[in-house]
Amino acid sequence: MSITPHGSMRSHAGGELRAEHADETVTIAGWVDTRRDHGGVAFLDLRDRSGIVQVVADPESSDALEAAHRVRSEWVIRVTGTVRTRPEGMRNPNLGTGDIEVAATSIEVLSEAATPPFPVEDRIEVSEELRLTHRYVDLRRPRMGEILKLRSAATSAIRRVMDANGFLDVETPILTRATPEGARDFLVPSRLQPGESYALPQSPQLFKQLLMVAGVERYYQIARCFRDENLRADRQPEFTQLDIELSFGDQEDVIGLVEELLASVWRETLGVQVEAPFPRLTYAEAMERFGSDKPDLRIDGLELAHLDEVFADTEVGVFKGVLGDGGSVVALALPSGGDMTRRAFDELVEWAKRRGAKGLAWGVVEEDGTLRSPLSKFMSEAEIAGVIATTGASAGDAIFFGAGPRTFARDLMGALRNHLAAERDLIGEGFAFCWVVDAPMFEPVEDRGEAVGSTAWTPVHHPFTAPTPEWIDRFEEAPGEALSNAYDVVCNGYELGGGSIRIHDREVQERVFRFLGISDEDAQERFGFLLRGLAHGAPPHGGIALGVDRIVMLLADATNIRDVIAFPKTQSGACLLTDAPAGYEPQALADVGLRLAPKPVKD
Ligand code: AMO
Ligand code: AMP
Repeated sequence: MSITPHGSMRSHAGGELRAEHADETVTIAGWVDTRRDHGGVAFLDLRDRSGIVQVVADPESSDALEAAHRVRSEWVIRVTGTVRTRPEGMRNPNLGTGDIEVAATSIEVLSEAATPPFPVEDRIEVSEELRLTHRYVDLRRPRMGEILKLRSAATSAIRRVMDANGFLDVETPILTRATPEGARDFLVPSRLQPGESYALPQSPQLFKQLLMVAGVERYYQIARCFRDENLRADRQPEFTQLDIELSFGDQEDVIGLVEELLASVWRETLGVQVEAPFPRLTYAEAMERFGSDKPDLRIDGLELAHLDEVFADTEVGVFKGVLGDGGSVVALALPSGGDMTRRAFDELVEWAKRRGAKGLAWGVVEEDGTLRSPLSKFMSEAEIAGVIATTGASAGDAIFFGAGPRTFARDLMGALRNHLAAERDLIGEGFAFCWVVDAPMFEPVEDRGEAVGSTAWTPVHHPFTAPTPEWIDRFEEAPGEALSNAYDVVCNGYELGGGSIRIHDREVQERVFRFLGISDEDAQERFGFLLRGLAHGAPPHGGIALGVDRIVMLLADATNIRDVIAFPKTQSGACLLTDAPAGYEPQALADVGLRLAPKPVKD
């Protein structure tokens, strides 16, 4: 026995009918997309997953015509009829089925439907709130259906590559302990052990490392991860990783695998040939040239220029003050930016202020090599010449200057690069992949805003990332310089994935914990299971995790992660469909040994 291709209630998928089916009797089923009732004859557009086909009911089958008068949008019907080619002039070249129609001999109503909350079509003007509340209707829209298919095609392509390379699909627990990836944990109270809780995994990181200790050698999982953090257009509290780990390999193995994987996914879903190997940038280079650890390389040029030396002895007040405080002046030249109006410049200054900048200085290079700028009267000729030489600007170009604390100025100008490129249409077509390698092990907590331990340093990736061989014995001596054996894969300005070679030596792992200010007792309490595992024969290992939702966003050309997830959460973490999160039943609280604190009083 096997399942029939379209379900035993139908003979064909309506959207797949073509001229070659002419004169066949078919039974199809689906939703009434649109209905044009001319009294004596009625046309129904019938929609199923495969597409839309036109059904005609006329007086030759009076029962069918009577049913066609009665049905309404989004009712579910089953139609039996004969496929016939449409007369010349009545064909619809925009529809796959546009050369034919189905002349109904019977129309059966399988399910009536309430008036839809919004029309099932791509170009609708409805709030996302309504779309998410009635997601079952929203997902009927052709674009949403295409995205679901694309996502499924991407995950099957992923599985094919992983299987072909000998990776085992292993599931890891959802009810577990905290796994530090830099966000807060979602907690699940325990009934069997009242007063205790599980954490949902931020990633399967520690389990996959223990699978390497267990001798699995090559692991993958399409894994759900949970992070309680502030949401953005490319972040959800619950998201999906393609999680990978391998033993007895190095960075080149992981990079080679991921390039093969992404090339296959792009080829099989979009038919697009991705060029590999991808260019590699060091973290330092990405930061210096693009002000970002996820540079958008579709933007040609627009590289940052560093002007600390040019302005070392400057009389320009804002620059002098910032440099005196150990900050930086970072500039960006915009080709032909001299055509911008005064108002356009003012708007950019406001844009910078909204990002927390004190201001954004600007100038335009004139034909005679001078700089037209509110600040130029304070700049020496040598400084102007230095600015022009360092930024590489020529006559007619605009130059922007951001001055401030070192990382702030760099990040601001990196963001300005993306902003100007979008505004001025300087973003090229296609997909620009790259690797960002050699990230530092640690960065100051003040730059990252979240700490793993109690010191002023926090890991750039996570605390299980190995230092490069030259830093293993002495990362504590220069924590801001020590490099890690980590790599991120970036496409079009999105961080698609990040990974590293891991620490497989228990002592090195203990030193990293100590350096981060995690006491030995604390390390035992939080990560004892990992440390014990590392003491029981850990092979050298490493891996990566790719954001599946972000991959699908790129494939679907979507700008919002919610569009590529069947049932996503809103910006405030709510599921509008089910109305989650919901309150507690008193008994449920008692069962897990919890009492609610009084609600904070709002004033
Ligand atoms: P990392 O934290 O970099 O690494 O996550 C890997 C990838 O997962 C995706 N991602 C997200 N996607 C949507 N919403 C989110 N909130 C979200 N957070 C992360 C990104 C990111 O690049 N255990 C390590 C991997 C490893 O070292 O192997 C980890 O989780 O695309
Ligand atoms: P002010 O001295 O604040 O009047 O600023 C003079 C010019 O310098 C204005 O064009 C400001 O936008 C610009 N400016 C002020 N602070 C900064 C800064 N931190 N970085 C770059 N430009 C600045």
